[in-house]
Amino acid sequence: MSTNPAAVDSYWMPFTANRDFKQQPRIIVGAEGHHYHTEDGRKLYDAFSGLWTSGLGHCHPRIVEAVQRQVATLDYSLGFQAASDKVFELAEKVTSMAPDGYSKVFFTNSGSESADTSLKIALGYHRARKEGHRTRLVGREKGYHGVNFGGMSVGGMTPNRKAFGASLLPCVDHLQHTWNLEHNAYSRGQPAWGAHFADDLERLAALHDGSNIAAVIVEPVSGSSGILPPPVGYLERLREICDKYGILLIFDEVITAFGRIGAGFAAERFGVMPDIINMAKGLTNGVIPMGAVMVRDEIFDTFMHGPEQAIELFHGYTYSGHPVAAAAGIAALDAYVEEGTFEQSRGLEQHFEDELHSFAGHPLVTDVRNFGLMGGLDLVPRPDAMGARGLEVHKKCFWEEDIVVRNGGDILQFSPFLNSRPEDITMTFEKVRKVLDHID
Ligand SMILES: Cc1ncc(COP(=O)(O)O)c(C=O)c1O
Repeated sequence: MSTNPAAVDSYWMPFTANRDFKQQPRIIVGAEGHHYHTEDGRKLYDAFSGLWTSGLGHCHPRIVEAVQRQVATLDYSLGFQAASDKVFELAEKVTSMAPDGYSKVFFTNSGSESADTSLKIALGYHRARKEGHRTRLVGREKGYHGVNFGGMSVGGMTPNRKAFGASLLPCVDHLQHTWNLEHNAYSRGQPAWGAHFADDLERLAALHDGSNIAAVIVEPVSGSSGILPPPVGYLERLREICDKYGILLIFDEVITAFGRIGAGFAAERFGVMPDIINMAKGLTNGVIPMGAVMVRDEIFDTFMHGPEQAIELFHGYTYSGHPVAAAAGIAALDAYVEEGTFEQSRGLEQHFEDELHSFAGHPLVTDVRNFGLMGGLDLVPRPDAMGARGLEVHKKCFWEEDIVVRNGGDILQFSPFLNSRPEDITMTFEKVRKVLDHID
């Protein structure tokens, strides 16, 4: 049975070409393991594992069972001044998975809320230390930190900003992005060239004086703008410059946390410890919306002053630490550990990289990038129709090849399941190649 046209018409879809979509709606009605089921009865392989969310696969039995049990036991609990048992349990699991020194975590409902929460924590931290003059926030060109005002302001993807005029947060600067076709086209993993891009922070510190900068926020590996791994030495350099000026370093790990790059956190994989780590997506395997912000112990301790009955952080959401989301999170984190998911993911990297880079030299491809199980493939845009070729690939994959491939404009993005079978990664790229070989 197909969704009635009035229903399709009523929904204003996010980040979607609504008018184009509604001509031939792509509607998903079920999922199991590595597949979606469509309303016309087909089974599609999900080559994007949700939206970077569902690394363990869809409808993972352990998470389904935990959610069902929790919703029947405690469907909601207030989270201010009292909270459900489950959120404490999840907090401990998250911090135990983290590198040493991060023992406190704050819960949100999304990556966007995590971005804004982390920026507020940074500002509040400096104020609590009597450095309230540190009000400047620094993001990076091509960065993505969600769609709320804080994240949008520090974000650096032009289409996400330009339609909303100049009314973004004041006192925000952007570092140069690190993508460089001339030096780094077709790099495998981290590009060897480009650590010096971090020195752009010195420029901003010279301009504003470093003592006025509160925080720098970056994705350790940029995802939404097309998978931009950090050049070798770049994150280390950024950490050094932040330390030199007392600037907090925030890693937005909404994509990279929980196995996407073969470790619990990118901080661990790169051996660079930020002050604040944002997460979402894999926290619950995408099953229930949830995000989190984890901080170095000293940041939390700095807030713990004043009278004991006083609230230390005037921030929180009605659904912060929602018990059903927390139950999903506990089950997901247990599954990651017991199923050895991060090791599995790491073990697939080489095969994924080799398959992805087999597109080098294809006439419609201009660059390929990868890190962990994140892959980006740039297509030549059609003249005067930016994004058209990418969207056509997505649609042909959906309708003709029974596979879901995400396009961000003319960039194809790949995020295989962390527990993929190598042959499914091969199959994904065979299908994409077939489509690319048959479009103009
Ligand atoms: C790095 C990063 N930060 C923030 C977000 C926003 O997350 P959400 O869509 O859950 O608000 C995303 C989403 O893809 C992301 O990749």
